[in-house]
Amino acid sequence: MKINRGFLQLNDRYLFSRIARKVQEYRGEHPGQEVLNLGIGDWTLPLGPAVLTAMERAVMELGSAETFRGYGEEQGYAFLRQAVCRYYAAKGVELAESEVFIGDGAKSDMGNILDLFAPESTVLIPDPVYPAYLDTNIMAGRSVKFLAGSRENRFLPLPPADLRADIVYICSPNNPTGSVYSREQLKEWVAWALAQEAIILFDSAYEAYIQDPDLPTSIYQIPGAQQCAIEFCSLSKTAGFTGVRCGYTVVPHGLVRDGISLNELWLRRQTTKFNGVSYITQRGAEAALSERGLQESRASISTYMANARVIAETLRDLGFWFTGGENAPYIWLQCPQGMSSWEFFDLLLHNCGLVGTPGSGFGRCGEGFFRLTAFARREDISRAMERLRSRY
Ligand code: MLT
Repeated sequence: MKINRGFLQLNDRYLFSRIARKVQEYRGEHPGQEVLNLGIGDWTLPLGPAVLTAMERAVMELGSAETFRGYGEEQGYAFLRQAVCRYYAAKGVELAESEVFIGDGAKSDMGNILDLFAPESTVLIPDPVYPAYLDTNIMAGRSVKFLAGSRENRFLPLPPADLRADIVYICSPNNPTGSVYSREQLKEWVAWALAQEAIILFDSAYEAYIQDPDLPTSIYQIPGAQQCAIEFCSLSKTAGFTGVRCGYTVVPHGLVRDGISLNELWLRRQTTKFNGVSYITQRGAEAALSERGLQESRASISTYMANARVIAETLRDLGFWFTGGENAPYIWLQCPQGMSSWEFFDLLLHNCGLVGTPGSGFGRCGEGFFRLTAFARREDISRAMERLRSRY
């Protein structure tokens, strides 16, 4: 028996597990010391009444023989796929129900989608970016090229015309930098992918945070994208489903390579390896995408965006360079005095009892940067910023 040696190329721990362990050690060494966590981007507000009522009703349906449900429809229930289509229609994007696949979150689908591509495919990953993209490719033994983000390009790299790759990841709004590609910039990516016959894996997990109406919230708002892009989104950051677990992946029928429909391949993959998300969750997700559900989650998102403004104001006063926080729940700052990301992590933890995410965990170009999340209770954000002002 031979193990998959790809795993040996990974860091010993996934970024957020490493942070959690460091915080646990700190707590052990400093009992009674309060730690304020602006590290992992996890929703903190309660679910809204629209979602709760729908899920309660679904639970009760399972308790009666007439309304009991067993295995669900293979791509997800039609009621939820239709709700996703309506959500896109409101953005000016027409999708067929059969192009939408319900899953348990963007992270799983973005890892699983790699089943569709030949092992020798060349992968392009912007740096810095969400670490699961790189780790899943390393596990699969693929060769990866990086595209450097920097202060100069506002962490929004564009494809050089001579760059060859089969698969490219785009995360917009970007995790960790909070930068968002403009329509013109996404047009460049789509033109590049069409010319190369490459596939864009577009992660729109944070699209609901975009405040500027001129910025695209879906790659399919760009003409030609239905021939070159798969879009992944989830209700984690849109409606507080980080614990409930529900997301969706759009694989357009126009996406054909070597004469083969990627939609059909993904359906084949999902029906073989996945048995769907629970009925209760899908009813909750349908409610989250209803008018009332969207209103309720917009109110929560406004709270997080107000948190982001509090963080931004503090950083501005303290003279930090930073980006993000305007159309995304993340703020990406440059560590002071040339410190490395982990040095700054330790300094904040020890001096302020404050946890953030070291930028180097998102890629080599993230070294010397640091991410703070606006997903926290307002009082914690205020206290964290007070500590930063007085103790840093
Ligand atoms: C993050 O903090 O980057 C995210 O919450 C992690 C995730 O979405 O898996």
